[in-house]
Amino acid sequence: MSDTTSGFGARAKKASDIETHDTSIARDGTNIPHDDEMTNLRRVSREFVPPARLRGTSKSLIRDFFDRAPSGSINLGLGEPDIRTPQIITHAAMHAIEAEQNGYTTHAGLLGLRRLVAGDYESAGASAESTIITAGSQEALYLALMTLVDAGDEVLVPDPGFVAYPTMVRMAGGVSKRYRLPAQADFDFDLDEFRQAITPRTKVVIITSPSNPTGRALDEEQLKKIAEALAETGAFVISDEIYRELYFTKHRPPSIADFYPRTIVIGGLSKSLSMTGWRLGWLCGVAGEGDSTIRDAVKAALVLHGYVTTCASTVSQKAALAAWSNEAEAARAGMRRTFCGRRDYMISRLEEINVRAVSPDGAFYVMVDVSAHGASMEIAERALEHKVITVPGMAFGAEGEGYLRLSFCADKDVLDEGVRRLAAALKS
Ligand SMILES: Cc1ncc(COP(=O)(O)O)c(C=O)c1O
Repeated sequence: MSDTTSGFGARAKKASDIETHDTSIARDGTNIPHDDEMTNLRRVSREFVPPARLRGTSKSLIRDFFDRAPSGSINLGLGEPDIRTPQIITHAAMHAIEAEQNGYTTHAGLLGLRRLVAGDYESAGASAESTIITAGSQEALYLALMTLVDAGDEVLVPDPGFVAYPTMVRMAGGVSKRYRLPAQADFDFDLDEFRQAITPRTKVVIITSPSNPTGRALDEEQLKKIAEALAETGAFVISDEIYRELYFTKHRPPSIADFYPRTIVIGGLSKSLSMTGWRLGWLCGVAGEGDSTIRDAVKAALVLHGYVTTCASTVSQKAALAAWSNEAEAARAGMRRTFCGRRDYMISRLEEINVRAVSPDGAFYVMVDVSAHGASMEIAERALEHKVITVPGMAFGAEGEGYLRLSFCADKDVLDEGVRRLAAALKS
């Protein structure tokens, strides 16, 4: 993958250029100098030499395309709602600021907020004690992986899947193994593919529903099959449910927490209540009866969270208490209607330019098949030249090749112009 040259990988290569003695070979094939040599290198080169766990890590292709976009570009790249944060939330935040009671909360977060989060998973055995409020769901994901994954453990990640998963798995010392969500089945879950990816070393399985990048959601039957396939493995599931409230199906997509007991749910308010910059997320452990492992894992994650973040923003936590109100629920429903309308509009516009799109069940992304026009990276570059930001499907795994991910976080007239520019790029 030709990512940016600004990442840690570029520096590491430079350092290894001046390496003269024998080296170890890392799993990814790069050379890792021995400790005494590293000290020597630092002294001789006076350069920053990244630790092995960060080597090869660079900013994501999503950010790369965004950062390189010429001015006046239309952004169909980032996954960030353009809709205002509901007033009940902003007012609660302003009240919290004016009341000036914004010191640290407990590391785990406000008890009232943890009760509300756990309440959504009560039937599955969640409690306030097994819930941590985090700086966005991204921190929750990091805590979960750092806590559960040991050196050499395998972590099953979806292909295509969210770009952060393999990077974080590597930082935790684990090895990602992809399970295919086949493009020819419109990225639907495939039980055989899933079973084939499981090995005796499988420690953690990540599932995302609705998915980034495909927007596809898993139904109850599929979740039960996943639970059955994992029953004898002892593997933990990390269920990334950051898009669970943004659905276009009749009902909210189900959670695997109701079918599989060793689950850690990751969630937050960024996407469903337009609160990306508020950094408010959570990690919620679902404990099986008589099985204390998840509770122990959450305790360990809490220690890490305390050292890394201390606590999530107190203002954001206090504002988040309003997210379970009727007014916030009405705002969520309004957002679902808006995004559903945009999805249908976007797909019909794409059909008009003869580009097939996989209709999403939720989130705000659509995968569009551009395979007839070239490789996804090349098409995304051409689109950028025509001032429309997209993400090449290969950024999400090999299965995404031949597709672009477009987000519909903009008004219809902007989407319209974006599709028009994409059509021009495909013709060029
Ligand atoms: C699948 C998925 N998980 C987690 C996140 C992190 O979101 P946040 O940290 O804003 O809650 C994102 C953001 O794009 C995402 O797409």
